Amino acid sequence: MQKISKLGVLTSGGDAPGMNPCIRAVVRTAIYNGISVVGIRQGYKGLIENDIYSMETRSVSNILNLGGTILKTARCNEFRTPEGRKTGYDNLKQQGIDALVVIGGDGTFTGALKFSQEYPDIKVMGIPGTIDNDLYGSTYTLGFDTATNTVIEAIDKIRDTADSHDRLFFIEVMGRDSGAIALRAGIACGAEGILLPEKSTALDELIDLLKNGQANKKSSSIVIVAEGEKSGNIYDLAKKVKQQITNYDIKVTVLGHLQRGGAPSSFDRVLGSRLGYAAVNALLAGHTQEMVGLEANVIKTTPLVEALTGHQFKLEDDLLQMVDILSI
Ligand code: F6P
Repeated sequence: MQKISKLGVLTSGGDAPGMNPCIRAVVRTAIYNGISVVGIRQGYKGLIENDIYSMETRSVSNILNLGGTILKTARCNEFRTPEGRKTGYDNLKQQGIDALVVIGGDGTFTGALKFSQEYPDIKVMGIPGTIDNDLYGSTYTLGFDTATNTVIEAIDKIRDTADSHDRLFFIEVMGRDSGAIALRAGIACGAEGILLPEKSTALDELIDLLKNGQANKKSSSIVIVAEGEKSGNIYDLAKKVKQQITNYDIKVTVLGHLQRGGAPSSFDRVLGSRLGYAAVNALLAGHTQEMVGLEANVIKTTPLVEALTGHQFKLEDDLLQMVDILSI
């Protein structure tokens, strides 16, 4: 067993439902093992600004059901610089912190990897926390399940009104580089079309698909567009389609940040608890510069460098084909 005396925990980047159950698990597993714990507010920003406070067992009471992150989060440009990371390191040393658990997505891990390469005496363990589900080494990231359920609930409601009015809706969901939410929600909501950052869809192809739907007496159509989809702005896309299908009443809805809030689902509560517990145990077992993840229902660790470079969400063409067939 590795000796760790004081552990810092932070959340960084976009928040994700499930971060709070995860923080609770980190804090309590560490305390159970005789390790002092500090919370670092607002991710790397708090590390640089020394916004660090002591956490006890009761600091994480009654947070399993809360969305967001009690530690707060931020995107921090200063931590991208060697000077910023040096200030963070000095703060950790001054407080006697010898291990760090970072909960976040690819930006968070990029910072963690650089930091731990420069300062290997601080042990670092990553936990995948992002609604984007785009890290290699974990089939699911924290928040993806809850966010997708939120999207599904919203799209079901839009389908009601779309159907009543015989309308076509373009609905934008989050995912700057990842179509994971769009694909899963598309299957679950019976979307007529799904546009993803990983795959370009020609306008003609989309028009044909929608015209076929009309010819097949569809009363409404839903096209889910991931934020990072390559054809550009969703409003422009809707206009272009309108020019070619003039008899369709077309509306656009951008779901935006409502996708990131809300109480974590049962899946994300359990995943957060398992990953938080596993992260502390991995540090105690001597692991560092790694990420804990869940694959085939088994906890495993993956080097941070691989988590960042091997792409988790491979577009499953068979699923896309299935969506087309099931929505005829
Ligand atoms: O990384 C998670 C995510 O929600 C992306 O899907 C989205 O593109 C981005 O964060 C939005 O970030 P912000 O809240 O900083 O605008």
